[in-house]
Amino acid sequence: MKKIDLKYAYRLINHGPLVVVSARYNNSETFTPISWNMPVEHEPPLVAITVSKENFVDQLIHRSKSFCLNILEAEHVRRIIRMGEVSGKDVDKIAMTGMSKAECKKINAPYLLQSIGVAECELIKTVTIEEVDIFIARVVYARANDKFKNGLWDGSRIRTVHHLGKYKFVTTKELKY
Ligand SMILES: Cc1cc2nc3c(=O)[nH]c(=O)nc-3n(C[C@H](O)[C@H](O)[C@H](O)COP(=O)(O)O)c2cc1C
Repeated sequence: MKKIDLKYAYRLINHGPLVVVSARYNNSETFTPISWNMPVEHEPPLVAITVSKENFVDQLIHRSKSFCLNILEAEHVRRIIRMGEVSGKDVDKIAMTGMSKAECKKINAPYLLQSIGVAECELIKTVTIEEVDIFIARVVYARANDKFKNGLWDGSRIRTVHHLGKYKFVTTKELKY
């Protein structure tokens, strides 16, 4: 993956993929699938995620004030689902799935090396409503592989994962018109 211009960071998730959110505080870390994610603004580059207070990642984001969005393709869907069935509080999700991680550049968190795109985010505001926290954050560093060209994903090449609900998922197909 290569660094991408932050003005294009929102386009990593503009098409609504399921992401895996990674976060760390002290020696604890986790990798949590989050389908409720969205771009908020392109300049400055802002994103938001909705996280249940019950999830371990919620505590880690509260404490570290940062998180990372990992965008993965369809070949990893089983591993992503597994990461959503257990908690990083009890389980090492990297060992469990056989995935690999590396260190983020600007925040103290890991990212998944199997990702095609990664957005490192610093928390700027938390909106708490009912049993969830909406974390609004600024992307401070972003990277993507060669499927992200000229500031956006190459629709003919990416196969991102999109969550319909329950255990149903679809992937992408570029439309010609
Ligand atoms: C496909 C999928 C999408 C999910 N989307 C969300 C979401 O948007 N927000 C959320 O709080 N939890 C979501 N979850 C649930 C968490 O991923 C799950 O509770 C996870 O085990 C929490 O891990 P943690 O305790 O290590 O943070 C989703 C799970 C799956 C499988």
